[in-house]
Amino acid sequence: MKTAETVFLKRLEKHHDELRWLYMELYGNDSMFAELCDNIKQFYLERNEDLKALDLKREKKPDWYKQNDMLGMMFYIDNFAGDMKGVEARLGYIEKCNVNYIHLMPFLDTPEGRSDGGYAVSDFRKVQEKLGSMKDLENLTAACHKKGINVCMDFVMNHTSEDHEWARKARQGDGEYMSRYFFFDNWYMPSLYEKTVPQVFPTTAPGNFTWLDDAGYFVMTTFYPYQWDLNYKNPRVFNEMMYNFLYLANRGIDIIRIDAVPYIWKELNTPCRNLQQVHTIVRMMRMISEIVCPSVLLLGEVVMEPEKVVPYFGTVEKPECHMLYNVTTMATTWHTVATRDVRLLKKQLDIVNALPKDYVFLNYLRCHDDIGWGLDYGTLMTEGIEERCHKKYLNDYFQGYAGDSKSRGELYNADPVTGDARFCGTTASMCGIEKAGFEQDNEAMEKAVRLDVMLHAYMFMQSGIPVLYSGDEIGQVNDYTYKENPHKAADSRYLHRGAMNWELAENIQDSNTVEGKIFYSLDRLEKIRKKEKAFVSNADTWTIETWDQSVLCIGRYYEGEKIIGLFNFSEFDKTAWINETDGDYVELISGREMKAAGVNIPAYGFYYLKKKQQKSQ
Ligand code: GLC
Repeated sequence: MKTAETVFLKRLEKHHDELRWLYMELYGNDSMFAELCDNIKQFYLERNEDLKALDLKREKKPDWYKQNDMLGMMFYIDNFAGDMKGVEARLGYIEKCNVNYIHLMPFLDTPEGRSDGGYAVSDFRKVQEKLGSMKDLENLTAACHKKGINVCMDFVMNHTSEDHEWARKARQGDGEYMSRYFFFDNWYMPSLYEKTVPQVFPTTAPGNFTWLDDAGYFVMTTFYPYQWDLNYKNPRVFNEMMYNFLYLANRGIDIIRIDAVPYIWKELNTPCRNLQQVHTIVRMMRMISEIVCPSVLLLGEVVMEPEKVVPYFGTVEKPECHMLYNVTTMATTWHTVATRDVRLLKKQLDIVNALPKDYVFLNYLRCHDDIGWGLDYGTLMTEGIEERCHKKYLNDYFQGYAGDSKSRGELYNADPVTGDARFCGTTASMCGIEKAGFEQDNEAMEKAVRLDVMLHAYMFMQSGIPVLYSGDEIGQVNDYTYKENPHKAADSRYLHRGAMNWELAENIQDSNTVEGKIFYSLDRLEKIRKKEKAFVSNADTWTIETWDQSVLCIGRYYEGEKIIGLFNFSEFDKTAWINETDGDYVELISGREMKAAGVNIPAYGFYYLKKKQQKSQ
């Protein structure tokens, strides 16, 4: 016990002054700070020996998650395997997918029908009964660790469900609990907030406040009316939420996804997003995790433009999140698919590539949420492309209405006032696999599969860690059955959250099937990525001009090894007019020797060209 305490005290000592400074700046409350310190020590002492050993190991190798073997997969537990035990039974499949990090979508207690896909938590210390128990979670994380798989979960800290114990007490008029939320007995203050706070769900949940008829109060609800925003001005909220975070970390979680983090601090006359205090809270959270559970990574969910996202990494001396989503690149990728014009994407990648290499982005083609068209309209405008029209074009295109589109999908939160809308669909459906399958058009299917695989190959080349959405590895298409479920019908995001089709997954060995083709192609790429050190997340990464608007070229360099990726976003054969005259290259998929100059690339094709090592004299 003594040595364990020494480890804790040493870590506390490292961060104590800054932690106290920030806490006092925000709360000015000494006794609550003392309580926080006492309690986090308790969580440290309760942390099991295996996790403590992992902490020590990762402390010695802080770059452990920046390696080229990191590959994520996200899924809802019930959709993937029924329950927690089911996931454990499917770890073999996860390994076969070369995945070593799984994101278990929200699984904590949540009221049926008022859950927002689990993002309305009614008990942070209870697993939904249909999925299992906390013990099952611990067993699952331990089983994952044995196989070298990391486990990620959501920490929904901006709000609780209206069924959470605090919310229920607040609703009954208990002042102690009301002060943990934002309550107003008339519309005056909410009306002032509404002047500056934008809407997240303008169609499915308009406004930022909900009137509680029984209580006679308005409560702040940035998301759905049943998701009550927590008031982090109250130190009790901060302390308790930190205890919940540590409780979950102690169940063996490796990556904590901080849900909707930009929203956690509210201030009148502001947009209530990305305020300075949010960064203070995330920085404190980072220090607390480094003191109690340093093997745990913080992943920030910041779905904003790049200037707003990057500050969540903090600074090199005072880091906040370890990892963030590369959301603008994701949206720009689909813009590129629709326009066959890589210029904006190239510019976007240049912005990301110019950032410090310590910053780790999670790259993805799509996730469980909609795709918002947050593009660099300033740049598009110089080409005469106007925001509103272009969003409409992209939405039309991906719904399959515009000219030659092969995509299928649905709009999300179409705002009748602004004309704005976001988009839902699986990668495969957006690439044309759904349409080709329905029409039994083999030629179209061949093209759609090529596009799908090319997009994955390009994603693996980006700087950072790629994350697959479960089912994408076998080209699963949209699932329209959500429309029959009254709890889901109004939320089109369920279109791309379908259950894993294990019957189709049986085809992965059969190269004549769509599933087999995609799975096999991704497998090859993932193995190359794992083998070639130029794919580590802190390699030099840059783009190269190809002089063809549809062909993107990305270079990677690490410790003397260089790889160039070429990606043709058009359905026509193209030539990449690159001229890398520094030596001979070998194409990693075919093993063919090639020159990295004037490279012909078939429609929706791609190459990974590796520079051959010079023979030593
Ligand atoms: C995040 C989740 C999204 C959810 C929202 C509210 O953005 O990704 O699914 O609706 O938070 O918790």
